[in-house]
Amino acid sequence: MSLSLIGKGISESVTLKLNETAAILRAKGDPVIHLGGGEPKSKVPIDAIVATAALLNSGEVRYTPADGIPALKQAVIRYTDEYYNRVVGPENVIASGGAKQAIMVALQAILNPQEEVIFPAPYWVSYPEMAKLCGAIPVPVKPEDGTFYPRLQDIEQVVGSYTKAVIINSPNNPSGAMYSEQFIADIVAFCEKRDLYLIMDDIYHRLIFDGRKRINCWDFAKDKTETSKLIIINGVSKQYAMTGFRIGWAVANKKLIEVMTNIQSHQTSGPSGLLQRAAVGAINGIQSSVESLRTTLENNRNVLVAHLNSFDGVHVTKPDGTFYLFADFSSYDKDSTRLANFLLEKVQVVTVPGVEFGMEGYLRISYCGSIKDVTEGVERMKWALDPNSPNELYIGDRKLVRDWS
Ligand SMILES: Cc1ncc(COP(=O)(O)O)c(C=O)c1O
Repeated sequence: MSLSLIGKGISESVTLKLNETAAILRAKGDPVIHLGGGEPKSKVPIDAIVATAALLNSGEVRYTPADGIPALKQAVIRYTDEYYNRVVGPENVIASGGAKQAIMVALQAILNPQEEVIFPAPYWVSYPEMAKLCGAIPVPVKPEDGTFYPRLQDIEQVVGSYTKAVIINSPNNPSGAMYSEQFIADIVAFCEKRDLYLIMDDIYHRLIFDGRKRINCWDFAKDKTETSKLIIINGVSKQYAMTGFRIGWAVANKKLIEVMTNIQSHQTSGPSGLLQRAAVGAINGIQSSVESLRTTLENNRNVLVAHLNSFDGVHVTKPDGTFYLFADFSSYDKDSTRLANFLLEKVQVVTVPGVEFGMEGYLRISYCGSIKDVTEGVERMKWALDPNSPNELYIGDRKLVRDWS
């Protein structure tokens, strides 16, 4: 079959595929524990539901402007003022179908074929594929040995005449690492100096632990005018547990937003008005659900870290935020895909192979599910991996017998 080179070069989203696998196994009645997911299980904020219901009841759900409805832009303007101490206008904001689309459209607006996009590893699975979708070249940069923290000097080394943009995601999916204030200050200054776009993917910025303070990249920008190449990405998926609503946004200079809007207008048009209304409800509504999600996640993280520390062969780095933990399992198996498949087959626990995030030998474990799932999932993993485990394990009334060493 004759398919495009770009199309053929794009791999499927492993994380979305795993959601599907877990759902199929569950539908068959298998007692699967899904520690591979990327969505909080808490309920959508009531303000989001009320706002959506009001529009739905009107019976008039129409096309929206390609860059989003005015009410959502206003909510994002207020959000940007509150969290970034930055005053922007509606022409600096675009609402998209999730942060994913906001990043994609930004990349389409700035990249020419063969240009390069740099991002630290481990990285969110979509960054390399998004760059490739633009005909551009993804350039991951490995962290300092044994850590998840990128060093400016390593980024500097790969910047060349083809480099167009840097993407930073902190706290980070998959590691949960929150980069230091100094690093954020340095990367903002570096990108300004080298005239590079800097995409700050802040989708997890309110989900941080241990009393950490949010870091505002805008604080370090010298260029606060319409020539700034700083693009701030955010959305409702994670902080408000609204993954299914598919609303995210970008805040950037007017010209860039105009070009992004043109692209989006031909790609998908504006996001659904219903879902934009829901996002307005969430952003402008009572914020207690975010703090309650944050504390639940922090507690889940503590339980998960304590359990994993009891494994003999796992090297654990405590996440600073998000709802992911990225642990080194290489002493059990250096091939993370084989290990994740083994865990799924033997004890029906879904994890995501580290190789998908650019670091082999690791597994990503999500703790956004119930504490019971987290605890039981990790106990099953321990049973499967520890050669000193008892020979049998019961999952409900199913008896599992170790037939491997
Ligand atoms: C780092 C990162 N950025 C962006 C997204 C996309 O979020 P959305 O659901 O708003 O498209 C995700 C989702 O997993 C993510 O982990």
